Amino acid sequence: MPSAQHTRNPFTSVETPAVGISVEHLTKNFGSLHVLRDVTFAVHPGEIFVLMGPSGSGKSVLLKHIVGLELPTSGRVLVDEHDAASEETREQVRMALVFQSGALFNSLSVYDNLALYPREHRMHDEAGIREKVMHALKILSLEGTARKFPSDLSGGMKKRVAIARALVMEPQLMLYDEPTSELDPVMSATISEIIASLREEYHVTTIVVSHDRDLALSIADRIGILMDGRLAFLGLPAELQAPTDPKVADFLNPKINLKHPRFKQLET
Ligand SMILES: Nc1ncnc2c1ncn2[C@@H]1O[C@H](COP(=O)(O)OP(=O)(O)OP(=O)(O)O)[C@@H](O)[C@H]1O
Ligand SMILES: [Mg+2]
Repeated sequence: MPSAQHTRNPFTSVETPAVGISVEHLTKNFGSLHVLRDVTFAVHPGEIFVLMGPSGSGKSVLLKHIVGLELPTSGRVLVDEHDAASEETREQVRMALVFQSGALFNSLSVYDNLALYPREHRMHDEAGIREKVMHALKILSLEGTARKFPSDLSGGMKKRVAIARALVMEPQLMLYDEPTSELDPVMSATISEIIASLREEYHVTTIVVSHDRDLALSIADRIGILMDGRLAFLGLPAELQAPTDPKVADFLNPKINLKHPRFKQLET
């Protein structure tokens, strides 16, 4: 049995210590736009942490800080003990971000999309890469798609290809940005099951950014809710059944008010 503190490589079964993330007083401004204001939280090794929040609240920006694609205005992000922004961290810790858009290369087949990273990083010889790619496609029930191009796939298939591509990187940290957006409820549930089972099987530390309340309540160990650049909630899914903050309650259970529509309140 692999220990909960270790990530098991999906292909070799080799175990490496699961990574932890520490976001410390993270502040991010784009010019005069204050996106993140003194955000502090930790993600424990092997945990599934779901980050929720209204559109534009800074969720994707926060994910980009964790993988070192954005630099803090102040504060810092640590991956284990190492600064997320440093090159050494990105060389030492394999992080896979499943982008909100999928970010598949349209000119490449599904197979070549998956093979790109291991080829560039010379992770294996071509036969080894083939084995990994086909295995990842199998895990995501995508065996028939290797020769297809992204434009030949449905939205749900593209999401799964993006996850399979992340898996081929043999990550110690999986980050998903809106993995269930634009999907029907059954496909959303399937993606949630895949995320949970990948963590269960490989103990990979997992951060999911999502608006999807069902996903958050069913797979999260803990949930954070970003509002106005701050963490308005940080706690267990059960604690969200009766949130004390009215803004958080309204975010989770917005009431449609035809007499006093909120878009008219925004205008005034
Ligand atoms: N590189 C950038 N330069 C300037 N502003 C940016 C940049 N990246 C993001 N922003 C701004 O930061 C804010 C937060 O953006 P972000 O993409 O993190 O939102 P989000 O919470 O992920 O929203 P959504 O749920 O719609 O994906 C937005 O106002 C966005 O316009
Ligand atoms: Mg986003």
